[in-house]
Amino acid sequence: MRAVSAMVLGGAVLAGAALSQGAGDPASGKVLAGQCRTCHGIDGFAKIPIAPHIGGEPASYIAAQLTAFRDGARAHEMMSVVAKSLSDEQIADLAAWYASHTVTATLSADPADAPEICVDCHGADGIGVTEDVPNLAAETNIYTDTQLKAFRSGKRVHEVMTPIAQNLTDDEIRAAADWYSSVSLSIEASQ
Ligand code: HEC
Ligand code: HEC
Repeated sequence: MRAVSAMVLGGAVLAGAALSQGAGDPASGKVLAGQCRTCHGIDGFAKIPIAPHIGGEPASYIAAQLTAFRDGARAHEMMSVVAKSLSDEQIADLAAWYASHTVTATLSADPADAPEICVDCHGADGIGVTEDVPNLAAETNIYTDTQLKAFRSGKRVHEVMTPIAQNLTDDEIRAAADWYSSVSLSIEASQ
């Protein structure tokens, strides 16, 4: 009997560890999101033009970006400071919280006019087509412009986006940024 209960306990401990490191706990993330709300809102709808909407983004993407800011692979005067003291568990919890919301994008323009080289991955409405692709819907043109130029200059690096951005002119960057900023976005909080 003793051996059996020890095994059950061991299993429970393992499951708990897997949850905190992998999936993250959205309820803890919501509490931690108090540190993020002045810029990203509690539900991930940004409050300042230079901050992106992060509600409803894939958890893996949010966690990867927070880790990149913490470790210096991606740098920003505000986010590098914010991410510096976050543990892996806090990152997983924050990612779980912000990812738990439902986003709806509404296009006011003809989808046929969307930037052709972006739609396969980011959609005409700026909702990422697969799990590793972030949403661009309703990001301000300042934000999208800044990120594309960061990929182009090498300040931000990604195997897919770096070569794409290196082939874009300033005008093409501005056109894509304007397109996605014209989409309207609503974020429905999960709790
Ligand atoms: C003082 C304002 C501010 C605070 C507070 C803040 N952020 Fe940010 N965040 C920004 C800005 C500005 C950017 C854009 C950085 C850039 O241009 O690369 C950003 C970018 C991000 C990104 C990258 C999103 C993407 O689409 O690539 C994530 C994820 C993020 N923040 C999460 C958080 C979380 C979680 C917190 C709270 C723990 C937080 N931020 C607190 C301003 C803030
Ligand atoms: C083959 C797929 C693919 C194509 C095509 C593509 N992207 Fe991306 N894009 C990605 C992925 C994957 C990321 C996430 C990069 C990361 O993890 O840092 C990304 C990230 C971005 C970001 C950063 C978003 C954020 O929240 O910080 C912007 C801006 C962006 N893409 C704009 C564009 C534009 C504009 C085009 C068309 C000119 C385009 N992308 C074409 C896959 C793609």
